[in-house]
Amino acid sequence: MCGIVGYVGEENASAHLLAGLSKLEYRGYDSAGIVTYFENSFQLFKTIGKLENLIKETDDGKLAGGSIGIGHTRWATHGKPSRENAHPHLGHRFALVHNGIIENEAEIKKKYLKGIDFKSKTDSEKVVWLLEKFVSEGEDVVSAIKHIMAELEGSYALGIMDLLNPDTLYAVKNKSPLLIGKGEGFNMLGSDMGAMLEKTNKFFEIADKEFAVITKDKIKIFTSYGKEIKKEPFEAHLDPEDIQKGAYPHYMLKEIEEQPSVIRRIIKEYSMPDGTLKINEKICNDIKKADKIYIIACGTSYHAALVGRVYFEKIAGKAADAFIASEFKTNMPRLSKKPIFIFISQSGETADMRAAFVNIKEMGYKSIALTNTPGSTLYREADHALLLYAGAEIAVASTKAYTAQLALLSIMAASVKNLIAINLKRELSLAANVIEGLCLEKEKYKLLAQEYLLEKDHCFYIGRGLDYYSSLEASLKLKEISYIHTEGFPAGELKHGPIALIEKGTPVIAIITQENINLNTRSNIKEVKSRGAKVLSVSLKGISSHKDSIVIDDVHEFLSPLVSIVPAHFLTYYAALQKGCDIDKPRNLAKSVTVE
Ligand code: AGP
Repeated sequence: MCGIVGYVGEENASAHLLAGLSKLEYRGYDSAGIVTYFENSFQLFKTIGKLENLIKETDDGKLAGGSIGIGHTRWATHGKPSRENAHPHLGHRFALVHNGIIENEAEIKKKYLKGIDFKSKTDSEKVVWLLEKFVSEGEDVVSAIKHIMAELEGSYALGIMDLLNPDTLYAVKNKSPLLIGKGEGFNMLGSDMGAMLEKTNKFFEIADKEFAVITKDKIKIFTSYGKEIKKEPFEAHLDPEDIQKGAYPHYMLKEIEEQPSVIRRIIKEYSMPDGTLKINEKICNDIKKADKIYIIACGTSYHAALVGRVYFEKIAGKAADAFIASEFKTNMPRLSKKPIFIFISQSGETADMRAAFVNIKEMGYKSIALTNTPGSTLYREADHALLLYAGAEIAVASTKAYTAQLALLSIMAASVKNLIAINLKRELSLAANVIEGLCLEKEKYKLLAQEYLLEKDHCFYIGRGLDYYSSLEASLKLKEISYIHTEGFPAGELKHGPIALIEKGTPVIAIITQENINLNTRSNIKEVKSRGAKVLSVSLKGISSHKDSIVIDDVHEFLSPLVSIVPAHFLTYYAALQKGCDIDKPRNLAKSVTVE
């Protein structure tokens, strides 16, 4: 998604802008730009492609003078990647960057912007000209900002500079992520903490339909009708080291290998003084009072939601169901009498998850957020929030956040049931140890990726029950990072159609971790093998066969999804590596999808 950064202070702004944009690269982009105010004018630089092109064009920021500026990485939605369409966009007096989508851009253009000679094809440029118009009609900047907030429909995080107020940044937010960083002798704005963390760990949240007026030593936040709001900054405890690759060649590999420590961190954070693993009593009680749990998410988080449904039904004895957020909003099911909603989102900013969240909130139902991002919109707006404690997940492929979601969901389910039947702390610790062991077998995965996936265009993951959900997640990983067309199927479903796709040499990866379906899945393996498939089977040791290529040490079968996904992580990594793919920033994808 687009990334925004702004700086106002006493130092050279462009250095902080370029550094901040480099921390936002993981969000995915295809052009970048900065503007600073220097000697009574804007100094504007915009380039397409990687950030290094902008760094080169500005001679590492040296050509952009001044101590105030805004920067942007653009992920094209309206208008192709080009210099003209890159942000910042300039009017006569204002410079502006935007993340989001202005849904009524055509109406705005027709009603207010006739005769404007637009330089770009973007919806964002209309916003800067709308601001120019209202100010040209006599409104002051703050009134004009309130006026555009009343007119714009859709999602926007705006950073604005004004030639006539050259010591002030303006930040405006609705649905797209935006935070203010509070410094000593400077202040910043950014799409997320990562863009500012090297400078400060104190942040102010801006809620939807709020705006801020920021100078180097003052931050004022207002509602859309201009009432000032007093807020306290929150401190982030993310370690800047955390968002570095260190000795790793890719964030994805680092984050795969961080999974054991993440699970151990979750055990620590959710351990009660008496040593049991439990979530907050109030949340437990709200879940107990509900007659059904609706778990809503997207992508990988949805796959975690599918496993979470099983945990709540099988461990906690509560009716539960999982929904893809965009489908839930489009096709809302008949709700039970006393529902409760769990929203799972690593970023806490995913637009389609948020759209479903807003629906539920408007209907007055209770919501619980499971997110990795304190201060995110979901974290702030849900009735309850539980953190994943996975540390910053930079790679587009969600790995450690996924297993963190599963671990936390198991703790939630056990807490609701006051379950002592499973010694969850021991079982989760064991799962962490097993993952640690899997991380020692990288060479083996590299060879298996060569043997099964080199020059392959298609692949199938199959499994039953929890293994089916793991197959869905494993296939998402492989397709989104290696671009090999991969599908995850319920193993029992193959003969109802998909088996027609099996040809000689088609790679089929079977996941077998559940005792009760062991033989069924193995008979499905025979079915595909007899049609020529090249089968790679992944099993838990207790039910393994000598033919299994990957055998994982035993864990509690409920927790098998935490460990059976790890070989899939590594197979994906090495399949993408041998294809020369951009592993951390795969094509067409963004880490946080903040547009619907
Ligand atoms: C996962 O590998 C993908 N990057 C994607 O499916 C992601 O899980 C999805 O966009 C949801 O993101 P969220 O958890 O931040 O809401």
